[in-house]
Amino acid sequence: MKQEPPPPSQHHRKRLMVSALQKFGKTIAYFVLLLLTYYLGYLSAASSTSNKPTLISRIPVETIPAPTFRSSTTSSAAPVVDHNIFSIQCIDPVISEKVRQAVLDRVFHGKSPWQNFPPAHVSTLLRQNRIKGWGSTGAVFENLIRRVRPETIIEVGTFLGASALHMAKLTRQLGLKTQILCVDDFRGWPGFLEKFRDMKMVNGDVLLMYQFMQNVVYANATESILFMPFSTASALDKLCEWGVSAELIEVDAGHDFHSAWTDINKAYKILRPGGVIFGHDYFTSADNKGVRRAVNMFARLNNLRVQLDGQHWVINSK
Ligand SMILES: C[S@@+](CC[C@H](N)C(=O)[O-])C[C@H]1O[C@@H](n2cnc3c(N)ncnc32)[C@H](O)[C@@H]1O
Repeated sequence: MKQEPPPPSQHHRKRLMVSALQKFGKTIAYFVLLLLTYYLGYLSAASSTSNKPTLISRIPVETIPAPTFRSSTTSSAAPVVDHNIFSIQCIDPVISEKVRQAVLDRVFHGKSPWQNFPPAHVSTLLRQNRIKGWGSTGAVFENLIRRVRPETIIEVGTFLGASALHMAKLTRQLGLKTQILCVDDFRGWPGFLEKFRDMKMVNGDVLLMYQFMQNVVYANATESILFMPFSTASALDKLCEWGVSAELIEVDAGHDFHSAWTDINKAYKILRPGGVIFGHDYFTSADNKGVRRAVNMFARLNNLRVQLDGQHWVINSK
């Protein structure tokens, strides 16, 4: 006869219950872990999407707080700060009397570019005097030249020389022996000949530099005006490397934000202490008021004040 198994003892029943509870506990822990992993994964995915570039609305520049300089370029803010770094180091300034010769030596092999001017192939194509400027004789020029009495003026953006020649006339009237250095690539801008139909083009060369030179000859100002026919950025860097500086600098080349921003920053490096930097078209609407944005941002970052004189902005150096 088959024997009935003995009923489980109380001790045995306890052990069965504990083991069942342990199994149940493990399952719960497993599910909790699963839920936690999912939740954490979700969180990190959500935060990584916030690193995606987002569209920034156009805020008027006056309301944008000034970015702060950082010494390291490796931080995540580096791309923004890099725009503000113009790291070229200027050597000690040469004395004013040596400025003209310094430029003649380095740019023109020590010879005056006006020797044997005009060359035969363009002499019949130039007008005796062909001037056109924009606000080039505004009161600001006389106001600043009287106040600063500069020995050297650097003009960034010259075109046909209207403002340079006006400054030459003013310094002469005031009995100053000022050297005016004009920086311009003398290319104008694409399509500018549409509005200057009387000016000639030779094999794609718009003859702007030659016409500017002719205007200077006509005004009998070749001794007080010299020029650097290069891009403003490269010329300003070179002037800084050569120790050429000025007490008065006019910035009037490219009117988009980035051109103005670069020119102002590079020009300020070669402004003598106590000097004045100024420029035209503070109110122009070009490039969403590019000149004004660049001037304001420069002043804010460097703790300087922008003053206005007609259409011109003026900043006194520290
Ligand atoms: C508005 S005009 C200068 C006018 C002049 N200041 C006047 O009042 O008679 C601008 C000049 O800047 C020059 N320019 C613009 N961008 C330049 C650049 N990146 N490098 C060199 N010259 C530049 C053009 O060739 C042009 O002659």
